[in-house]
Amino acid sequence: MIDQKMKTAVLEGFEKTFGKQEGTKAYFAPGRVNLIGEHTDYNGGHVFPCALTIGTYGAVHKRTDRQLRFYSMNFDKLPVKNTSLEELVPSEDAGWTNYPKGVIWAFEKRGFKLPCGFDMVIYGNIPNGSGLSSSASLEVLTGFILRDLYGFDVTNQDLALIGQYSENNFNGMNCGIMDQFAVAMGKEDNAIFLDTADLSFEYAPIQLEGAKIVIANTNKKHKLTDSQYNARRSACEEALAEMQKEVKIRGLGDLSVEEFEAHKNAIKDPDRRQKAKHAVYENQRTIEAVAALKAGDIKHFGQLMNASHVSLRDDYDVTGVELDTLAEEAWKIPGVIGSRMTGGGFGGCTVSIVEDGAIDAFKKQVGEAYKEKIGYDCTFYTVEIGGGPAVI
Ligand code: GLA
Repeated sequence: MIDQKMKTAVLEGFEKTFGKQEGTKAYFAPGRVNLIGEHTDYNGGHVFPCALTIGTYGAVHKRTDRQLRFYSMNFDKLPVKNTSLEELVPSEDAGWTNYPKGVIWAFEKRGFKLPCGFDMVIYGNIPNGSGLSSSASLEVLTGFILRDLYGFDVTNQDLALIGQYSENNFNGMNCGIMDQFAVAMGKEDNAIFLDTADLSFEYAPIQLEGAKIVIANTNKKHKLTDSQYNARRSACEEALAEMQKEVKIRGLGDLSVEEFEAHKNAIKDPDRRQKAKHAVYENQRTIEAVAALKAGDIKHFGQLMNASHVSLRDDYDVTGVELDTLAEEAWKIPGVIGSRMTGGGFGGCTVSIVEDGAIDAFKKQVGEAYKEKIGYDCTFYTVEIGGGPAVI
């Protein structure tokens, strides 16, 4: 569902910034929310995200020289960034343009050389730093645009992998594949049940009768590169290496709960053992949750969402008082089917499934309790599941 106002605005923004140019095209790539399966995607486990109808809009025109010009209407105090295909190196000064530059760099690494540069204006309606994947959205948008402009032979799944590669190797964030995959492969009204061990996946229709997906934003600014995300990933890798001395596995996601319990003492450090426990249990919880959803048991799905938050809070230690307050207040409200943090954690958002009749009470009670405890407001969005990237 394309927001026509956003489309018009980004095209007007292009004209204002770079002048009227015949053949300027507009594009869209969504943001994402993960329903369950957190911090499993770099452990060869399962995830269950969906693309959103909010995302990043782009207006682009090809150039005849090797220059690149970028402008973001979200950072309208920043001037146009002028760079070129000869300058594909990350820099602090490049700010947000490190994302599109990283994707160009990753295409070139794969042998897809750009014959010329382009001018680009972007305008997004994903709240910045909310953990709803504004960066993956921008990466996939850029890849989609490159394919369209230069005719590169890549699939949407490749766009996800290239986006992840650029984020890992150009932007220094060691993320898994979930975000870029959800953005590139999104399908309206469906979540994606993805096995990150081999990228096999299936779409699962989300038909919430009498309920909606509500996102609550902590409004706490977080930056995953600065956070402990990379440290968590390293802890899991060390735990895996220790486990592999006893059992033949590719990733922690290969272990059942019973296998983990039988061999967990192979992981020497108790703190690391606890982190690995989350990865194993969360993966099994995700498989169980999707089975519950398919069986029409939304109540059980919600209970597993709650259990996921508890595990992220107590075992994986990636929540913090802001996310805990949002989830714990939500659990008190009748009509809240499930509520948990979503994304990397340490800030960002919770995702909740709330019965229609309880949405007002949810916003009021959670909002007031949050303000009282944290000292500033949280923000709510009722969201819909949208499709993948598109020319609009
Ligand atoms: C971030 C990363 C993802 C994933 C989640 C946690 O969003 O980008 O790859 O690891 O955190 O599930």
